[in-house]
Order: sequence, then C-alpha cells, then structure tokens
Amino acid sequence: MEIKKQTSLKGEIAVPGDKSISHRAVMFGALADGTTRITHFLKGADCLSTISCFRKMGILIEEKDDEVLVHGKGLYGLQAPKSVLDVGNSGTTTRLISGILAGQNFISELNGDASIQSRPMKRIITPLLSMGADITSIKGNGCAPLRISGHPLSAVSYNSPVSSAQVKSCILLAGMYADDVTRVTEPVLSRNHTEIMLRYFGADITSTGTTASISPAPVLKARDIPVPGDISSAAYFIAAGLLTPNSEILIRNVGVNHTRDGILRVCRDMGARITLVNVRQEGEPTADLLVQSSHLHGTTIGGSIIPALIDEIPMLAVMAAFAEGTTIIKDAQELKVKESNRIDVMVNNLKRMGADIEAADDGMIIHGGAPLHGALIDSCMDHRVAMSFAVAGTICNGTMEIKGAECVNISYPSFYEDLYSLGGK
Ligand code: S3P
Repeated sequence: MEIKKQTSLKGEIAVPGDKSISHRAVMFGALADGTTRITHFLKGADCLSTISCFRKMGILIEEKDDEVLVHGKGLYGLQAPKSVLDVGNSGTTTRLISGILAGQNFISELNGDASIQSRPMKRIITPLLSMGADITSIKGNGCAPLRISGHPLSAVSYNSPVSSAQVKSCILLAGMYADDVTRVTEPVLSRNHTEIMLRYFGADITSTGTTASISPAPVLKARDIPVPGDISSAAYFIAAGLLTPNSEILIRNVGVNHTRDGILRVCRDMGARITLVNVRQEGEPTADLLVQSSHLHGTTIGGSIIPALIDEIPMLAVMAAFAEGTTIIKDAQELKVKESNRIDVMVNNLKRMGADIEAADDGMIIHGGAPLHGALIDSCMDHRVAMSFAVAGTICNGTMEIKGAECVNISYPSFYEDLYSLGGK
C-alpha cells in the first residue's frame, strides 16, 4: 500500500462496530436463552474468529447485512467441538473463551496464528488454576495452543497484577460456573464492557472501584445489542483530521465509555479541537466526534489513563512525532505483549521516517517536530501499526509504503476506503 501527502481531509464517516463489544455480544448471546440480535457488528477477522469458535460448539449464528443473530442455548448449552478452536489473531477470543471453556463438561483445544502463539497466557492460566480449572499450555511455554478440560469451578477473589480487561473478563466468565461469588481486583480499572453487558443480559455482577464481582449460575436472557462505533478505529481519523491542514471530519456514532476515552483526553491535552456532539446512551455512552485541524504540542501520558488508551498508543506515538515538543509515554509495558511488540515496532518505523524517538522499558520518548518523510514501513502484520502509518503517510513528505497493509482486516476491513472517501490518496 502506498500513501501520499494530503492537503485536506473533509467529510463524514461512521467507523465499524466496536471490536471488544462485538466479541462479547456473540459470546454472551451464545450463553443466553433465546436469540440475541447484534446490530453494527464488526465483521473484522478477530470477531469472525469468535463466531467460528461458537459455531463449532453447536451455536447457530446467522450473519446478515448489518446484523448478526445468535441463537443462544443457555449457560450449559455448548457442545464439545469436534476439532481445535481456531482463534486466529485474537487475544480477546483466546482469553475470554478460556474462562467459558474452563467451566464446561467437555475437553477443548484452542490455537491461533504465530502472533497468538507468542502472547502470554499465564496471566489467565494462573487464576483459572486457582479456581480448580484444568488448563495447560500444550507446548509448556505459557502460550497457546491451550488444552482445557472443563469441570465445575471454585470461586476466587483474584488480585490481578495487570490491568487487563481480557484477564478480568476471563475470570468473571469462569465465575459463572463457580460455586460462590467470584471477585477480580485490578490495579487500575480496565475497559468494563463485560460488566455492563453481562448485567444487561441478567447476570448479578457488581463493580466497586477496581473490583468486579459475579454470582454463579446466572440465567442469561437474549438481548438486542446495538454496537457503537469503535473509538480505537475512530482514533486514526481523529489523528488524520487533527494533523492534516484544512481538515474537518465528523465521525458518527463512536462509543465514548470512560474506560476507553483516554485518546480524547490526551488529544485535548495536546491542544486538539475535538467536539462531542449528540452525546447519548445506547447501552454504552455514544457520541459523534467533530475533529478539526489543530496545532498539537507534546505531553506526558502515563499512570491510570494507560488502560483507557492502550490500543491507541501507536497512533498517539505518530501524533507526538508531528507535534511540537516532547511527549513521554510511560507505564505502558503492556505494549510489548500486544499483536506485536508495539514499543519496538513503533520506534523502529518512526526512526525510518526521520523521527527523534527513543524506546524505554515502559514506553517511549518522542521529540516531535522534526521534518518527517515517507519510508518503507513493516507493519509486522499488526493492524494498529499499519493504520497508524497510513495516517502518518497522509501528513509527511514523500510516499509512505506499508508492508502487510492488508492486516487492517483484523479490526477495520474498510479502513482504506474510508480514508479515500475523505479525499485521501
Ligand atoms: C481488549 C482488552 C485489551 C485491548 C484489546 C481488547 C478486550 O487487552 O488491548 O485490544 O476486548 O477486552 P488487555 O486486556 O490485554 O489489556
């Protein structure tokens, strides 16, 4: 993919459905009684992996134009899969489904692509073992493939060392198959879509501070789930609109849950002109975002905001490279265990563009404002890296070439079309 500098980006877009919410709607719908209707479902490769795993466990899932119908069979209605469950590139599928599989009455195996096979699964294996689950990393390296022999579980109160919605959700889902109330406490509150949606399906689930608790054996009832646009996908057009001169972009129907809106808070801190219009509650807080070209300056990003923008750090790193002054990103060690090592991959690729940037153990330090030029970028098949550099290509001088550009399919299949629709070349 080659991207060229833009003089202006103007227009309206509606980004695809939220990835985290789309996954959960399929999973909880499968465990509910009745038919769950999901609108604006994200048909990206990750969420399609979740659909295929539940189909293999006997759940009928119908994909229509902009809706998905999940014919749930209740908490105990899944059937033993006849082959390995393929989670593709999806950490969310792997970690959340493991919590569900730990409480079934059958044996299952999970596996995915090369990236998934190197991502840490001890973070779910340890708490699941403490609940009495039978889960093993088949190669003994703490990663997928995983083998899970399901059976009833014991409740735990787990203090998670990481703020991870995938870990928290895994334990809460296992908690539905436990003998008492299960609690998870995390250092900083991570995205809370599981808590919001499971409560809506009828589970007895409460949150106090950074602790979420769930009572066992809930009777989940099918629901209609309108999925808001993904703020993590909107992030690329927020950045493109702010950094491209003479631009104004209206991004419709974006989820602005406070556990996800760190990008908006940091952008404002950097001097961005972003206005939230038509703020409403549609299951999750939702708004339209009006983004206008802005002169950005550096900032410090760290502490409790990190989980609320963890997936947006690649885009923020690019923004910081174009902003005036220094940006420090810290407390973000988790970047090393995402779809790629996002500290190394962002630092190496931004250096190729001429940026003044250094890696740190928990983030990066970026001295913005150096003139940046197009370069050959290796996305390392990480969707968020590819999209961040596509946006960089609309702003820098010369031509940007992105290797593995097609990996945007993971979370945003129509990304390049949306960029063209605003005038991008
Ligand atoms: C997600 C949680 C986050 C995020 C990922 C989606 C989820 O991961 O990075 O893209 O849907 O729960 P961690 O829980 O590993 O932080």
